[in-house]
Amino acid sequence: MNQSQTIFFYWNQQHVELDFSRPEAPRPSTTVLNWLRSQHQGKGTKEGCAEGDCGACTVVAAWPDENSVMRYHAVNSCLIFLPWLHGKQLITVEGLADNGHLHPVQQAVVDFNGTQCGFCTPGIVMSLFAIYKNGASAGREDVVLAMSGNLCRCTGYEPILEAAMSITGLPGHDHLSDTEAEIAAKLKEMPEAPVRINHQEQLYMKPASLSEAISLRQAHPQAVVFCGGTDVALAQTKKFIEYHELIDLTGLKELTSFTEDESGWTIGAALPLEAIHRRHDGRIPMFDALFRVFASKQIRETATLGGNLGTASPIGDTWPVLMALEAMVVVSGPGGQRTIDIGNIITGYRRTAILPDEIILEIKIPKPKTERNFKFLKLSKRRQMDIATVSVAVSFTIDSKGIVHDPILAFGGMSDRPERATLAEQVLHGHLFDEERIDKACRTLNDNFRPISDARSSAEGRTILAENGLKKCLNHFINPQNKQTNE
Ligand SMILES: Cc1cc2nc3c(=O)[nH]c(=O)nc-3n(C[C@H](O)[C@H](O)[C@H](O)COP(=O)(O)OP(=O)(O)OC[C@H]3O[C@@H](n4cnc5c(N)ncnc54)[C@H](O)[C@@H]3O)c2cc1C
Ligand code: FES
Ligand code: FES
Repeated sequence: MNQSQTIFFYWNQQHVELDFSRPEAPRPSTTVLNWLRSQHQGKGTKEGCAEGDCGACTVVAAWPDENSVMRYHAVNSCLIFLPWLHGKQLITVEGLADNGHLHPVQQAVVDFNGTQCGFCTPGIVMSLFAIYKNGASAGREDVVLAMSGNLCRCTGYEPILEAAMSITGLPGHDHLSDTEAEIAAKLKEMPEAPVRINHQEQLYMKPASLSEAISLRQAHPQAVVFCGGTDVALAQTKKFIEYHELIDLTGLKELTSFTEDESGWTIGAALPLEAIHRRHDGRIPMFDALFRVFASKQIRETATLGGNLGTASPIGDTWPVLMALEAMVVVSGPGGQRTIDIGNIITGYRRTAILPDEIILEIKIPKPKTERNFKFLKLSKRRQMDIATVSVAVSFTIDSKGIVHDPILAFGGMSDRPERATLAEQVLHGHLFDEERIDKACRTLNDNFRPISDARSSAEGRTILAENGLKKCLNHFINPQNKQTNE
């Protein structure tokens, strides 16, 4: 077991050792943003909202992939605890210019007049830097998606998008390229992350094995477990919750794997959504549509499926999709492992059948045995960076005679939990798939759900949204060309 309390990382080109056993060290749950802003050279990174919404705090974290190639990830430093930096290169806006010469992404912002007051600019530049370094050519929609976590109050987005378009697809060469291979090698050689940091009345535990995680969970029943921490860190920055005990699950191999075989996909609970996005490569139905509207790229680089299920939110975006995919969730605790049907997990408002000493291990998504239609739609006030008012995911089979079989119509935002519209499913099952039947199923939603009124929508508004959303999803398949769509 690694008893060291020191984390090692690179900050731009500089090697940093942060020893939490020293009295002057910050608490482990100090956010990367707060640590940066406490440093003389770190004030370029800005704090806007401290809740992941504005992107002013965007930094880039880089680490080598399995081929030792550095990959660059734009993240929100306001929602990341310091130990996450271990074994990574943290790149901030101070590291971009080279001997007084602007970095190509900074130059692009200048050339396209992409800044006015400049408050958002360091964050925008860092998102552009991640696009530039990853080198892929991207269309305008990809660029919009990559920049959707960066708000700008005064410039207007067109010049920023023009600057972004001008740097996509370039080879990504810059002065950092000179030390890339060396830093990748040094990061790979770094000692394992500390497993236990006890500092300033905070115990930060990062188990390296599942059995250790389960023992820690038993020994520390008050400890808060987390994967990406986008919710857990938010409670600290916004609700000022003081964590005394934290268990970081991101060091567990079992929780960060992604496998595919003929029966389906198995996704570790702590694998970030963007990593899933890169690995599934369009094959898991509805996942591309889900990721397009889930938070921002910065949030998706750390947020996980395990965390989304862990929140048990009635408007958690992954729930309806996983329900329509008939996913199974594997949990593990002192009594061993068990697999729970996704539809049986939620037992009430933010309550689940997962026991307090269990952790979510992985999510299993079966490959459909027959050809099925899938569609997901999130209805929110903005397309990106917004939580759902209502969401709907549908999956069903249509046989050669045009009859619907085994429909699943799963909704978020219509009840105290994500829930299937079982009455509407009955209306569709075994009947000819036509507009009349679709209308009838949509009208049934009124009997299926009693939604609440809140700041997002009235109950009546939610019912109308759900009806229209379902109609849009189902009507999509009336046109035979749209059959077997994956979205
Ligand atoms: C700016 C912003 C935008 C967001 N947008 C969206 C959105 O569009 N759609 C959406 O659905 N959500 C959204 N969220 C909410 C959040 O990002 C997601 O719920 C995310 O999936 C949480 O994952 P995480 O790994 O960061 O969770 P964490 O913060 O690590 O954990 C969340 C909860 O789950 C528990 N938990 C985590 N892992 C496990 C585990 N393995 N076993 C048991 N319990 C566990 C934790 O104890 C905690 O209670 C947003 C959040 C922010 C800050
Ligand atoms: S400060 Fe707004 S996203 Fe971090
Ligand atoms: S330039 Fe002022 S907020 Fe973007």
